[in-house]
Amino acid sequence: MADPYDLIIIGGGPGGYNCAIRAGQLGLKTAIIEDRGKLGGTCLNVGCIPSKALLHASEVFDAAKNHMASLGVVAKDVSIDLKQMMQQKDDAVEGLTKGVEFLMKKNKVDYVKGRGAIAAPGQVDVVNGAARRLEARNIVIATGSAPADLPGVKIDEQQIVSSTGALALPEIPKRLVVIGAGYIGLELGSVWRRLGSEVTVVEFLDRITPTMDGEISSQFLRILKKQGLTFELGMKVVAIEKKSGELAIVIEPSKGGEQRTIKADIALVAIGRKPVTDAGIAKLGVKTDKRGFIETDHWRTNVQGVWAIGDCTPGPMLAHKAEEEGIAAAQLIAGNWGHVNYDVIPGVVYTAPEVASVGRTEEELKAAGIAYKVGKFPFLANSRARTNHAADGMVKVLEEESTKRVVGAHMMGPGVGEIIGEVCVAMEFGAAAEDIARTCHAHPTMAEALREAAKGVDGWTMQA
Ligand code: FAD
Ligand code: NAI
Repeated sequence: MADPYDLIIIGGGPGGYNCAIRAGQLGLKTAIIEDRGKLGGTCLNVGCIPSKALLHASEVFDAAKNHMASLGVVAKDVSIDLKQMMQQKDDAVEGLTKGVEFLMKKNKVDYVKGRGAIAAPGQVDVVNGAARRLEARNIVIATGSAPADLPGVKIDEQQIVSSTGALALPEIPKRLVVIGAGYIGLELGSVWRRLGSEVTVVEFLDRITPTMDGEISSQFLRILKKQGLTFELGMKVVAIEKKSGELAIVIEPSKGGEQRTIKADIALVAIGRKPVTDAGIAKLGVKTDKRGFIETDHWRTNVQGVWAIGDCTPGPMLAHKAEEEGIAAAQLIAGNWGHVNYDVIPGVVYTAPEVASVGRTEEELKAAGIAYKVGKFPFLANSRARTNHAADGMVKVLEEESTKRVVGAHMMGPGVGEIIGEVCVAMEFGAAAEDIARTCHAHPTMAEALREAAKGVDGWTMQA
């Protein structure tokens, strides 16, 4: 038997591959096992990247068709070449997954293709046709997540699709019903709406994006409705019947009441994701919580030498959270520091406009009895946003009164997915709103809206 590895990682998504790269950099003898044939996980292959490729392409189409004329740019006979749109998406994915494979080589990480299962502490079986056993001092489980099931509804990825099917539809559906008004439902619902589908979003709760700031969420709903999406809030799907080529989607008020049927060509089930935890962990006695996520203490499971990171563990199911945890776990395994600040993990919905948030919401601060000050600024009063005809939305900054620290920021508007990074840095440095307010920002930029909201915390915003 060859020398054991210092570290074997099961799963090649953002958690796993970032863990592998850092481990390689720190000189650990490392292998990463992945069974989808490509590195990059959900994020690169069927998640973050392909969805952003379609979001971007559909926004360009929408701008050319509906908005450029107001800027004096006349685009005639604008049409969609769906095959090419899908091809450029696939090309982006292909290029980036190859890039991750290159990074494994560069950092001397062995990329093992196949399905990994932990046989015993320190031992991992890899099945790829034949099975072989690898040994390691440490094992990191980074097996990610899969779409959650809607009881009684079978996803066939043709007519009833998960996000994976919705990213590869061969035709633009005339009628698309989206089940779940979260990240996936609103991003992919927006894509197909812009490309011409009639989109109806059915949401169990009486609001969209339930974990986000309430004020931003209701402004967001108003804008999505203006863009032509239809919402059935406070409704649940009871059944989906296939009838002569179309879908009959039976919905009923979440609190009980009369049923109705909506007709659709395609239904997208986007009601959350569930952890993937079938890499031998039950046999090993690795503890999971009630919802099936692997429990950890600083990414260590209850089994000596077995670690877990990313979507298969509790917390936000986001690529950058998985990445942070992967790096921290590699650091600890190498005997270094390992740190993730769970109070500063941004979330961005990449619709147009984007919605971004970090830290605590007003609702959470109120519920915790924490006194806070708030500053707000609308993009309508931001010169760059006005000039670019993109003035929907606002920025909100929250500062805790007792510590004078920024504890949250919530925004909707052009490019806020980038602007939120500035708040993350400020929060990591323990900044007060005044620190952001007194930092010179270039003019005219969208980021000035953040500065003005920060000024608003102490009452000196420049709003007209
Ligand atoms: P994953 O990326 O799920 O990777 C796990 C990998 O492990 C998979 O490749 C799987 O094949 C492999 N695997 C599982 N079991 C085994 C086994 N036994 N042996 C070998 N390999 C195994 N997040 C963002 O932050 N920003 C976004 O814009 C964003 N957009 C998204 C869009 C969509 C449509 C979806 C579905 C998700 C999106 N996410 C986004 C979420 C993001 O994709 C996940 O949070 C992230 O991929 C989690 O990383 P991970 O490494 O924990 O798991
Ligand atoms: P989600 O958790 O974001 O939203 C699910 C929505 O479905 C919620 O609003 C919930 O109330 C609703 N819901 C649950 N059960 C329902 C039912 N039976 N009927 C109707 N509505 C129901 O989950 P989503 O959109 O599936 O995405 C999964 C995860 O993937 C996200 O939580 C996020 O972590 C990640 N993601 C991140 C993106 C980003 O960062 N931009 C983009 C896409 C996904």
